[in-house]
Amino acid sequence: MTIYWNVNPEAADPQAIREAAGMLRAGQTVAFPTETVYGLGADARSSEAVQRIFTAKGRPSDNPLIVHIAHRSQLDELASSEDETVSRLIETFWPGPLTIVLPLKPGALSPLVTAGLDTVGVRMPDHPVALALLEAAGCPVAAPSANRSGRPSPTRAEHVREDLAGRIGGLVDGGPTGVGLESTVVAVAPGEVHVLRPGGVTSAQLREAVPGAAIIDAAGEAKPDEAPRSPGMKYTHYAPQGRMLIVQGTPEAAAARIRQELAAARAAGERTGVLAFTEDAPQFAGDADCIVEWGGRHDAFELARRLYDALRRFDEEGVDFIAAQHVPDEGLGEAIMNRLRKAAGNRIVHV
Ligand code: TXA
Ligand code: MG
Repeated sequence: MTIYWNVNPEAADPQAIREAAGMLRAGQTVAFPTETVYGLGADARSSEAVQRIFTAKGRPSDNPLIVHIAHRSQLDELASSEDETVSRLIETFWPGPLTIVLPLKPGALSPLVTAGLDTVGVRMPDHPVALALLEAAGCPVAAPSANRSGRPSPTRAEHVREDLAGRIGGLVDGGPTGVGLESTVVAVAPGEVHVLRPGGVTSAQLREAVPGAAIIDAAGEAKPDEAPRSPGMKYTHYAPQGRMLIVQGTPEAAAARIRQELAAARAAGERTGVLAFTEDAPQFAGDADCIVEWGGRHDAFELARRLYDALRRFDEEGVDFIAAQHVPDEGLGEAIMNRLRKAAGNRIVHV
């Protein structure tokens, strides 16, 4: 059985937070909103608690979890953060959507959290409900995104319910999340910041915060004979059940190619969908069985916020083929395209 709490995201009911925190302290799992996506939390010091996360999600045990804290002072118990670049990143972006991979202090956490690595990814979420819950729990909380493994990350409590009802201890419903994509994951080396996963904090923001360091894109796929830098990279994530094709080109050429691809899929007896900018959605009327209005072409924040909900819509509609519009790879567009490319299994055409 899963217990649900409905809270005001700005001023969460203290009683609900106390109950949810008590559940975490008792070694159970609790899903909660953050500014990026919903997380599925458990006491990061307890292997029994952390194992419940892996079991509920069906997550491979070699993919480490991010640890969430409410206060800077909690960091020193978990990880070494003396580096100057690390301090600067923390000052600039916490609380916020930046996860920093740091040397783990031995014995501080259940080894299940880090999948046996000697590093740990830590972040302080920028969400009143998450911070209140972490504060009340009083322990570091391991929390991956609160979806079944292989499903899009949840940006609404309903998504968590769809994937995990009955499999977790509790769910704090604090409404839709803000950013809509996961945190940026970085590892720091002397003079370098390696972006292991693009996310809510953009490369340009990192560059501005640490002008002396090189910002290195390390999110690419590892070569087959190499261990991936971030274990999460080797898993296919965020994939809808239908096959997706991204079409990149001028608006007119891309729209024409999308119509052509949809017609071909229909002719083959497939149920079709299109992920379309708000401005373009009307022109696809009649071309696809399911038109999902994504957001304004130039509004990267809206596109990020609505992407995962849109991907889930296609699954609900039982769509076999999805044509998606393309977003320029700049600013938040980097993270959007990183997720969209994964959803499409890298199927992309340039016209
Ligand atoms: O926004 C977010 O980061 C959300 C919310 C809930 O905080 N959490 C999240 O967690 O997206 P998850 O587990 O879905 O993704 C964690 C990513 C994975 O790609 C994992 O491989 C990487 O972070 N990661 C965690 N610890 C790491 C470590 N020690 N070294 C390298 N990568 C690590
Ligand atoms: Mg995830």
